[in-house]
Amino acid sequence: MNVKQFSEACERNREPILAVLETALADKKKVLEIGSGTGQHAVYFARHLPHLSWQTSDLQNNHASIAAWQEEAGLSNVLPPFELNVGGEWPEQAFDAVFTANTCHIMAWPEVVAMFAGVSRALAVGGLFILYGPFNYGGQFTSPSNQRFNEYLLAQAPHMGIRDFEEIQRLAEKEHMTLLSDHEMPANNRLLIFSKSS
Ligand SMILES: C[S@@+](CC[C@H](N)C(=O)[O-])C[C@H]1O[C@@H](n2cnc3c(N)ncnc32)[C@H](O)[C@@H]1O
Repeated sequence: MNVKQFSEACERNREPILAVLETALADKKKVLEIGSGTGQHAVYFARHLPHLSWQTSDLQNNHASIAAWQEEAGLSNVLPPFELNVGGEWPEQAFDAVFTANTCHIMAWPEVVAMFAGVSRALAVGGLFILYGPFNYGGQFTSPSNQRFNEYLLAQAPHMGIRDFEEIQRLAEKEHMTLLSDHEMPANNRLLIFSKSS
């Protein structure tokens, strides 16, 4: 069985995400990725940002694919995945930045809440939380395709769904993280960057 999974979406969004990460992570060293998925993003970003140490993580069922991408790339700055369920135990380690893509609409809302709390504990003041994915603004979908995607998610599982940017921002503020920037991404996605303020 081929354990190395492939995501078409990762191939499409990795360049525009990298263009922002190049600047945002220029002075950072240790990055934690939550929900590394196939492992494609980790390998691509670590290859193009060699000053970073990129720690992959996910639920156990994705570890084989992440490890396969990591081993094939042979990059010393991609670290093998550890198990991180945001609603469970978090590592003791501190990180300069946390990156996560397409996870907020997959996790149940209490898990999103737990993720923000865990990220805040893992970051020092000035550390960054960088989230990629679709978000609603002012209670509205930003495109008909996002609305269809949300209907698809809800049909899969009622705990999923595109989150409101304002709710995410409130959660961040509660966890002492301030919005630094909000970048438009292709296909009606956004890249949100929060900074740990205290
Ligand atoms: C749609 S996939 C995105 C994967 C990858 N980041 C990408 O952009 O292709 C959602 C990811 O969130 C992870 N995930 C879901 N619930 C989680 C939880 N409670 N804790 C940590 N990761 C979780 C899944 O295992 C999966 O890797």
